[in-house]
Amino acid sequence: MALRIIREIGEDCLRCVCKEVTEINPRILELIEDLKDTMYNADGVGLAAPQVGVRKRVAVVDVGDGPVVLINPEVVSAEGEQTGNEGCLSVPGKCGIVTRPMKVKVRTRNLDFEWEEIEGEELFARAMLHEMDHLDGVIYVDKVEGELQDVESQ
Ligand code: NI
Repeated sequence: MALRIIREIGEDCLRCVCKEVTEINPRILELIEDLKDTMYNADGVGLAAPQVGVRKRVAVVDVGDGPVVLINPEVVSAEGEQTGNEGCLSVPGKCGIVTRPMKVKVRTRNLDFEWEEIEGEELFARAMLHEMDHLDGVIYVDKVEGELQDVESQ
């Protein structure tokens, strides 16, 4: 198990547009494993490579149904709307209200570097979209409605 340091808002790596992954190699596989370890260790539901200082289009999400790996992910379609509370491991101690699509279809490379489609709704859709924003240097605070709130004693 290898934990990486989670970068916090204000650091440049969180504001970059990340580079596409061009192949699955041992470095990418190690990055994915470390992202999972680091996410679970921090009790997060998602973590993107730029959050650990790596400018690649890779993220992991787990909303309770097991880990999902996103590599070069793209939104294929989105429908509906959900408004709810969101937080980010790179913005510790804070949360805020963000409106996102209720359902989303995402195209992503899998570990064999083949394209596949993943459909998600509610929290899973929100988590995938939040992580995909990170790959373009976008943090949820950019989209928050009203003020950021303090998370009660966590
Ligand atoms: Ni985040």
